[in-house]
Amino acid sequence: MNELNILSESFEKIKSYLESNNDKTQPIVKFKNPSELKEVIDFEIGKKGVSENEFLELIDKYLEYSVKTGNKQFFNQLYSGFNFPAFIGEIFTVLANTSMYTYEVAPVATSIETEMIRLMNRYSGYEDGDGIFVSGGSNANLVAMFSARNKILPESRFDGYDRNLKLKAFVNEQAHYSFETAANILGIGAKNVIKVKSDKKGMMIPSELEKEIKASIERNEKPFFVAATCATTLLGAYDPIDEMAEICQKYDIWLHADGSFGGSLILSDQHRHLMRGIEKTDSFAWNPHKLMNIPLICSALLVKKRGTLQHNITDINADYIFHDIDQIEDLGKKSIQCGRRVDAVKLWFAWKYFGLEGYQKRTDNLIAVATYAEEIVKNHKNLELLADRQSFAVCFRYIPENKTDLNKFNLALREAMRKNEKSIVNYGYIGKTLAIRLITANGELQKSDIDLFFDNLLKTATALENKSSSVLC
Ligand SMILES: Cc1ncc(COP(=O)(O)O)c(C=O)c1O
Repeated sequence: MNELNILSESFEKIKSYLESNNDKTQPIVKFKNPSELKEVIDFEIGKKGVSENEFLELIDKYLEYSVKTGNKQFFNQLYSGFNFPAFIGEIFTVLANTSMYTYEVAPVATSIETEMIRLMNRYSGYEDGDGIFVSGGSNANLVAMFSARNKILPESRFDGYDRNLKLKAFVNEQAHYSFETAANILGIGAKNVIKVKSDKKGMMIPSELEKEIKASIERNEKPFFVAATCATTLLGAYDPIDEMAEICQKYDIWLHADGSFGGSLILSDQHRHLMRGIEKTDSFAWNPHKLMNIPLICSALLVKKRGTLQHNITDINADYIFHDIDQIEDLGKKSIQCGRRVDAVKLWFAWKYFGLEGYQKRTDNLIAVATYAEEIVKNHKNLELLADRQSFAVCFRYIPENKTDLNKFNLALREAMRKNEKSIVNYGYIGKTLAIRLITANGELQKSDIDLFFDNLLKTATALENKSSSVLC
């Protein structure tokens, strides 16, 4: 194989892939079910390696049948879009392939991660803060809960945890499932994560939190952890941190902010008020791979008090790796991973490229397009807004002219959209009501992209209505 030839061919493929991302006539996904996909791609590894042409063909196939998440009609997840400088940062990170444990093997990347944590802490108001890049928001939540447990029970690092102590964590009833996973992993048990009631917008009700904490204390349990969600996964609701912080101070409980989805809102002068009180939290999970459009994974856990993370780890006696000779803190000593991806560098390239103001504008734009989408829903006779929008999520459904099962109809509508390859949007349930959830996560979205989405949705809905009425006739 001529590797230089593969490299230059790959460059051409990247260029045409990026052009197709911006071409509105291109399918967002060429949908194939799993067995159809096996027919077009040979997934098995053969005894002998493939030829150069076959290798190049595999790249084409991989790109052809993958979902085009950089296309502006990708509204399905909490991440979306293509970020040029971050992409460049990722490529060169892979080229320089290293691991984040020591300054010795990652001098530039260690300095970059340290600077990114410093900057993110400045936004969070953590004056003597610390932090570490982790492998996603779920793991940031796990390390936060782990830190809270180690604060209340420092000896558990060595002796384990006595389950008669009945540790209890408290989260919004609409919080991410990763808190239950974290409690499971830490031996606390998923059942000991208490779901606190939220209001119509999806925000935790502070008086309900206090009620649950008091009841737990009366049962002789040990409340140790409260999480405020900064943008819930379905409704995009921000919990009232300020009021929750007051309660946590009163009962001396660790307060974590789960900004895995909406933490980047902190970049916006105009909208940061939704996270009022963030500086009073003990830890904060912030995922630049979502609203800052950094390629997955890029996720940080920030902690208010320097030393917290290192204190979590049982004393490391690994002098074969940590030599302590470079007059700098090796980041590996703060991590539950040994080998760790370099995830801060792509963020650094992107932040350098756009600047602080550029990222502020991109974040403001996300809210502006979400507001625009909400207005379209409110003003269309066949669309019903299912919850007041607080941030980047617009939850709605289509109401057909003829009476029908609305959940079934909207599920069929979402599936038809996915399979007609023009726009992809997700759904979830608000109570028993199926809601189509439109997420504005791509910082480059324009109003015309939202118009195109609703045009696709309305045309697909009309076609479905016509089809179902012809079936009835
Ligand atoms: C509120 C919230 N917390 C945590 C997570 C988990 O983040 P990750 O997917 O990076 O593990 C998500 C993911 O969507 C989320 O919405």
